[in-house]
Amino acid sequence: MPGKLEFIHQEMTTLREQGLLIPIRVIDSPQGAWVTVDGKKVLNLCSNNYLGFANHDVLKRRAQKAIDTFGVGPAAVRTIAGTLTLHRELEAKLAHFKGVEATLAFQSGFCANLAALGSLAGPEDVIFSDELNHASIIDGCRLSRATIVRYAHGDPQDLREHLRSETSARRRLVITDGVFSMDGDIAPLPEIVSTASEFDALVLVDDAHGEGVLGRAGRGIVDHFQLHGKVDLEIGTLSKAFGVVGGVVAGSRQLVDYVQQKGRPLLFSSAATPADTAACIAAVEILEKSGDLVDRLWTNTRRFKDGMRALGFDLGRSETPITPVMIGDAKLAGAFSRRLFEEGIFAVSIGYPTVARDKARIRAMISATHSEEDLGFALEVFGRVGRELAILH
Ligand SMILES: Cc1ncc(COP(=O)(O)O)c(C=O)c1O
Repeated sequence: MPGKLEFIHQEMTTLREQGLLIPIRVIDSPQGAWVTVDGKKVLNLCSNNYLGFANHDVLKRRAQKAIDTFGVGPAAVRTIAGTLTLHRELEAKLAHFKGVEATLAFQSGFCANLAALGSLAGPEDVIFSDELNHASIIDGCRLSRATIVRYAHGDPQDLREHLRSETSARRRLVITDGVFSMDGDIAPLPEIVSTASEFDALVLVDDAHGEGVLGRAGRGIVDHFQLHGKVDLEIGTLSKAFGVVGGVVAGSRQLVDYVQQKGRPLLFSSAATPADTAACIAAVEILEKSGDLVDRLWTNTRRFKDGMRALGFDLGRSETPITPVMIGDAKLAGAFSRRLFEEGIFAVSIGYPTVARDKARIRAMISATHSEEDLGFALEVFGRVGRELAILH
């Protein structure tokens, strides 16, 4: 008789055979353009450290000071044991930065999505969700127990058809990633907003990869499209461009106060640490003063993507620093990633279920920390290994 854990053995074997087993590399250095991975110094094309804040001197000093002043842990859930002045300071600074009435900080972007969707929708409601939305949106939709309607990726016309046919719901919500995390394309937010407004539906956008990247000095997708006041709730992360860890919802005072009353990750999970919160405050202050790092990120992005396209790589529909190098077959993408690593480049392959089965890819992430020389090195190695594996001809 097979043992009760036989299913695990079988599933793991299948994943290994299909090249879909996810390895986790071990890093033994701070985040930066170069990192030490499994004992080897490699060029980092994996991280979401868009602006270099993950190891920024100012952020580190502020985190150290916060530990001296407030200690290391929040010691409880905010609604039960109180919140630190630091949490409120971060929320006020983020509200000013994003040009909204209020924000509410969370322990992660994942938590922020669970809180927003779990608060605003219930079993009598319908959520219209882009088919390529992030896993945390999908899980937030499920948590709400609303009916979930997936509309075609980035397609306001398809969204309109679905909104038209779902008339009996108590409330209707539309949610989209701002920048799609695996393809790097930008949601057509102006069209989504105007379509949703025809049906009086709420609009939520997850700006995890737009914050610190799009808009004036990284103010995000709403600023990029000049849609201030037209999106009901922005959801974001402090774990990518902001360089630390945490999440945020941003919008009107009324909506944010409501999420504060109802959001389960706020009500039932401890707050962000003083060090993380203080470092996030420093990140917002730096961006309030200057957009130089964001400009550098975009200069690097253009240089790398122009070079990759000139080599003949297919970069899909990317419009941002997220650079998918489309391969198709998961095993070939895995082999490409391994050869890149041997040649000094850390760039992971992504396969099913994160992307569709025949759409495996290398996901290269560009940062303001990369120098021109780093990017030149990356292009040389991508070209050489791409020819060696017959990905380029
Ligand atoms: C679009 C999107 N939303 C939310 C998240 C979750 O953010 P966090 O890592 O802060 O939980 C991610 C992170 O991968 C993301 O890409």
